[in-house]
Amino acid sequence: MSDAKKVKFSLDGKEAESHQGVNLVQAIEENGTHVPTLCWSPGIEPCLGTCRVCTVKVNGRETAACALKIEEGMKIECDTDDLKDLRKGILELLFVEGNHFCPGCEKSGDCELQGMGYRFGMTHPRFPYRFSHYELDYRGVHLLLERNRCIHCKRCTELFSDDQGRKVFSFVGKGKDTRVEMNLDLEAKMPIHKCREAASLCPTGAIILKGQGFDRPVGTRRFDNPPDKGSKNG
Ligand code: SF4
Ligand code: FES
Repeated sequence: MSDAKKVKFSLDGKEAESHQGVNLVQAIEENGTHVPTLCWSPGIEPCLGTCRVCTVKVNGRETAACALKIEEGMKIECDTDDLKDLRKGILELLFVEGNHFCPGCEKSGDCELQGMGYRFGMTHPRFPYRFSHYELDYRGVHLLLERNRCIHCKRCTELFSDDQGRKVFSFVGKGKDTRVEMNLDLEAKMPIHKCREAASLCPTGAIILKGQGFDRPVGTRRFDNPPDKGSKNG
């Protein structure tokens, strides 16, 4: 039980309660409403605010829930048809901007983007696919960069470093030509546990451990089963 001061707020017109300083996503979930998140999840700090799939309305304005802490008197809208459709549209944009061929991806079943597609009941996007060309990068000793699957969430560039605190991933280029790059010298020296950490931090299959092929059978993966109501697992 938190020692922090209790705060009351309104959630979709009902009175709700949490504690001062709690992330808005968690405060909403404590009150029984699921908020989808991609770039952020509990334990992934600081908040990057890159994906916007956690968009809610606070005091009438659309905002990324993960970027805020709950405050006394906030008026939050989350579970409305408009907001659900907006969030689904954002997810669809992420799918059409990349090339996501889920059945052939090692991350299938463990991919947070794919899991969200299931959870949102997304059967097809309302936007045209871009079918952009993205170069794969096989040059790493342990890791493969599959840029077709990169959603530019910045987890790898902002939150990952090697054992000596050095950044291994970065973005180069501008606008639609922005792409993730890997420092090959640092990658070559990384122990395998750090390579695994990088691959698992990536919410999609854009960073993949080489030589690993479906070592966890389909059916046992994170998003292979429907989530419980309110669960983050999907
Ligand atoms: S490679 Fe993965 S972690 Fe890095 S920005 Fe792309 S999707 Fe995010
Ligand atoms: S989860 Fe909030 S902006 Fe990505």
